[in-house]
Amino acid sequence: MLERNLPGFSSSLGGAAKGVGKYCIFPLPDYVTDMALVCVEDFEKKAEAHLEKNALDYYRSGAGEQFTLGLNREAFRRLRLRPRCLRDVSRLDISCEIFGERMKWPLGIAPTAMQKMAHPDGEVGNARAAGKAGSIFILSTLSTTSLEDLAAGAPETIKWFQLYIYKDRTITEKLVRRAEKANFKALVLTIDAPIFGHRRADVRNNFSLPSHLTLANFQGIKATGVASSNMGASGINEYVSSQFDPTISWKDIAWLKSITHLPIVVKGVLTAEDAVLAREFGCAGIIVSNHGARQIDTVPASIEALPEVVRAVGDDLVVMLDGGIIQGNDIFKALALGAKTVFVGRPAVWGLAYNGQKGVEEMLSVLRKDFEITMALIGSQTLKDIQPSMVVHESQYAKL
Ligand SMILES: Cc1cc2nc3c(=O)[nH]c(=O)nc-3n(C[C@H](O)[C@H](O)[C@H](O)COP(=O)(O)O)c2cc1C
Repeated sequence: MLERNLPGFSSSLGGAAKGVGKYCIFPLPDYVTDMALVCVEDFEKKAEAHLEKNALDYYRSGAGEQFTLGLNREAFRRLRLRPRCLRDVSRLDISCEIFGERMKWPLGIAPTAMQKMAHPDGEVGNARAAGKAGSIFILSTLSTTSLEDLAAGAPETIKWFQLYIYKDRTITEKLVRRAEKANFKALVLTIDAPIFGHRRADVRNNFSLPSHLTLANFQGIKATGVASSNMGASGINEYVSSQFDPTISWKDIAWLKSITHLPIVVKGVLTAEDAVLAREFGCAGIIVSNHGARQIDTVPASIEALPEVVRAVGDDLVVMLDGGIIQGNDIFKALALGAKTVFVGRPAVWGLAYNGQKGVEEMLSVLRKDFEITMALIGSQTLKDIQPSMVVHESQYAKL
């Protein structure tokens, strides 16, 4: 690989390139430095090369002028770590338990729609990779694999099902029954999408799901009009406005609770007020999330909203977070501020687009290693050792 099409480069470069910092006195060509994927951004670059514009823009874009999309990253950078030293970190234990299920580490995969557009392995590949890594996988309602096929394809993985509430409550109820039957362990009700946000790129591209793919959970329910496979941007928005119920309110959580024994997690909470209501209406958990900045622009980064939610309900509900997590120290910061676990959306899509299930496995392994390094260098052997005082806002240092 190294010598391929490389006139003038001797094979001894192989050794030199491996010790880049030490021996290399000239800039390396792109494909040499590309050899190892060492961070989530590397997977994103690979994915960019594999995806068509229609799909790439769909996966990467946010709402409006994408201010919050950038903020989801920027806000992590504004937090500083305060490492503690000499604390014997020879043996790390980063496992945790959520709703009675053991996870090997505090990171799961957030629901993202239409994963077969990224790679034929689709949701099954993504979920298998999650299972191998000991992570939870959340299946989107708008998936290109049905929940039954996912359950059959990734039986070992802890699976949760993401749900919307439909105008026709029997559609919602049928999905709940199917999720229960297929051994999903929790329902994740997305509460920040009564309608879809304005994603400019999708409108410009007239985004459409490739014609060989379908929204697999709805095949056969022709009467609802959901089975259409060829949905353009307007098709999907029309579908959402014709099917999703924009009148839903907190009392619908009471209804949902009345029809299922599964724990209910609400996803999309950004305020203490909504967190308190989630507790009042009997939810088991909250995902602090701005939907990957895809719904309404200029809302806070998820990590900025986390502290007020934790202060309000952190002792009573399982508080989790997604949005902008791409490295180990992001995970650490979210846990220090009170999240019990975090989820990644796009990073898994990048892994999938790059190399299917194997690409997600590789991405998760890079992220896990990075988290372990953070844990060791900040002096935390277990998740219980992570203290709020280990993370402070940059403004603390500005005061000095
Ligand atoms: C391409 C894409 C599709 C998504 N589809 C859904 C979905 O179907 N249901 C849902 O609740 N959230 C959906 N989300 C939001 C994710 O669950 C999650 O909140 C977000 O991706 C987290 O941010 P991150 O991508 O920075 O990790 C989607 C996000 C992306 C990027």
